[in-house]
Amino acid sequence: MADSLLHPIDADAPRPLRFEFDGAEITARLDDTVLAAVLAAQPQCGVNEFDGGARAGFCLMGSCQECTMWDDQGRRLRGCMTVARDGLRLRSRPYEEAD
Ligand code: FES
Repeated sequence: MADSLLHPIDADAPRPLRFEFDGAEITARLDDTVLAAVLAAQPQCGVNEFDGGARAGFCLMGSCQECTMWDDQGRRLRGCMTVARDGLRLRSRPYEEAD
């Protein structure tokens, strides 16, 4: 994927955290949410299961589920409510769909 959707005001701030999203390495600032970090690196966080359109979150406060992701244990999480951590391995689709 090209370009990012979000452009942080402090774009030059250190991004010491690293995690994986759909196989891509994503860097994050301390206290970034996973969704903010993903959208600072690429234009979407998934694909709509009904029409194939891009998903990029909507409410950014845990209500809409448009930022749903899955961790490597198969747990569903909301990217806008999950703080980025080193070593996370996340996917935009459940493992049974992605594999
Ligand atoms: S963007 Fe709405 S729940 Fe995360």
